[in-house]
Amino acid sequence: MLATVSSAALQGIQAAPVMVEVNSGESGDPRLIMVGLPDAAVKESDDRVFSALANSGYRKPQTRTTINLAPGDLRKEGPIYDLPIALGILAATNQLEGGQRLRDYLVAGELSLSGATRPIRGGLAFAMQARASGKRGVLLPLASAREASLVSGIEVYGVESLHQAMRFIEGGLELPNLAGKTAFDPNPDKAEMDFAEVKGQSTVKRAVEIAVAGGHNLLMIGPPGSGKSMIAKRIPGIMPEPSHDEFLEILQIESAAGVTTQATRLQKRRPYRAPHHTISDVGLLGGGSIPGPGEISLAHNGVLFMDELPEFKRSALEVMRQPLEDGSVTISRSAGKVTLPCNFMLVAALNPCPCGYLGSQQKECCCSPHQVRKYRQRVSGPLLDRIDLHIEAPALSIAELREAKPGESSAAIRERVEASRNIQRTRFSNTNIRSNADMNHKAIREHCPIGPDLGDLLQRAMEQLKLSARAYDRILKVSRTIADLDHSENIQSQHLLEAIQFRSLDRSENI
Ligand SMILES: Nc1ncnc2c1ncn2[C@@H]1O[C@H](COP(=O)(O)OP(=O)(O)OP(=O)(O)O)[C@@H](O)[C@H]1O
Ligand SMILES: [Mg+2]
Repeated sequence: MLATVSSAALQGIQAAPVMVEVNSGESGDPRLIMVGLPDAAVKESDDRVFSALANSGYRKPQTRTTINLAPGDLRKEGPIYDLPIALGILAATNQLEGGQRLRDYLVAGELSLSGATRPIRGGLAFAMQARASGKRGVLLPLASAREASLVSGIEVYGVESLHQAMRFIEGGLELPNLAGKTAFDPNPDKAEMDFAEVKGQSTVKRAVEIAVAGGHNLLMIGPPGSGKSMIAKRIPGIMPEPSHDEFLEILQIESAAGVTTQATRLQKRRPYRAPHHTISDVGLLGGGSIPGPGEISLAHNGVLFMDELPEFKRSALEVMRQPLEDGSVTISRSAGKVTLPCNFMLVAALNPCPCGYLGSQQKECCCSPHQVRKYRQRVSGPLLDRIDLHIEAPALSIAELREAKPGESSAAIRERVEASRNIQRTRFSNTNIRSNADMNHKAIREHCPIGPDLGDLLQRAMEQLKLSARAYDRILKVSRTIADLDHSENIQSQHLLEAIQFRSLDRSENI
């Protein structure tokens, strides 16, 4: 007898429909044949499924059984077909009564040998696929159903075992429909590190606040021990809460990368990724035999922190340029081409030279001009071009370090950031722009008008500081964010002047 179960295959962060066809009762040796471009993990599924069937009190097929995963030209990856295969076998061997529900739902899930379900990657994408293909709902392992419950318009059920799934399909067991009942962690991990602990560095802290408020890329340059890494680690504590749509995108990527299968609770917050500089290009950009998200996509709608920027491989910095500009990355592999979103805020830190002490009052720099130039060249040009704010973090004096008074708390800074994001949300409603940093040239002309007086001021400053032309739009965008933080509708001269000072690396002699 032939049975079919709807399932899906993960393609990047989206799911494509897959039909699991099981035909039992064929003549020949009693064995199982799997066709339809399965990878090794899918092929191993028969061992898991047979054991799960036996341990759940069911019979394994006594005749030759063929399992076809259609369409045949799509590569099937991972152990997610265990549950649909097991249900298909039960239906094809007449062990299941009343199979209507089997046609109504999209099913995916890994099984353990005992018959218990295991969480899978891509639960959210499968729910979206179920909705797109007009299914009534999804049936997933309970731990994966949690994220799927964010998708509206379909039913979402989570099962803990094959036995439960079977009884639900037969109609003998009613499960709670989880749709719309997403449980968020009521006490999300509060960022343990607070800006109050950072002494001095008021200009750097101000630059970080502006950057987070407007979603601007930021670069910090300074000698060892000036607190660059310390400040960057405190950014999660001041990031604004994501909107529902932003959060869905974040979760879809995390779900496809398998991050959510390990988490016990969903936390509504933006990602903060800090890859080590030894990371591979694939780890950074995404890829693999079946293309999956890399660090730049995992940082989507959040922050990517690249500490010690010049230590990253030149190739990694080169390949990041396009995604930084587009907010998306396209990966081609033998298994197909996928485009993944990666609209992140880049925070980078570096020393002014290889020894770190160029321009420092504390210690003499021991680098030759050639060494300094080579070091800077690793990050200069096109990458710097995409960074809105450059800020120098000077070494702190002992007196400043001894200062006992705590600085401003992260909570106070975050409040201002949220307020300025609300202004931006209203400004960009009905567009696909999400923050000031996203503005294209046309949006800049519309939202950052400056009169002739300010135009002259900007021109004079750019000429005096020898700023290159590429700084122009960036200064206007940052001025817009500074004005928003100030709750000012128009960009005023003080906003513009503050934005201009954040282009220190742009001066021609520094490149
Ligand atoms: N502004 C500061 N306020 C309080 N402590 C600080 C400050 N700056 C540095 N420190 C202390 O110095 C330590 C080292 O700072 P951090 O690692 O952030 O420096 P860095 O600028 O990243 O240096 P490197 O260039 O070597 O990476 C911090 O863990 C902290 O204890
Ligand atoms: Mg550091």
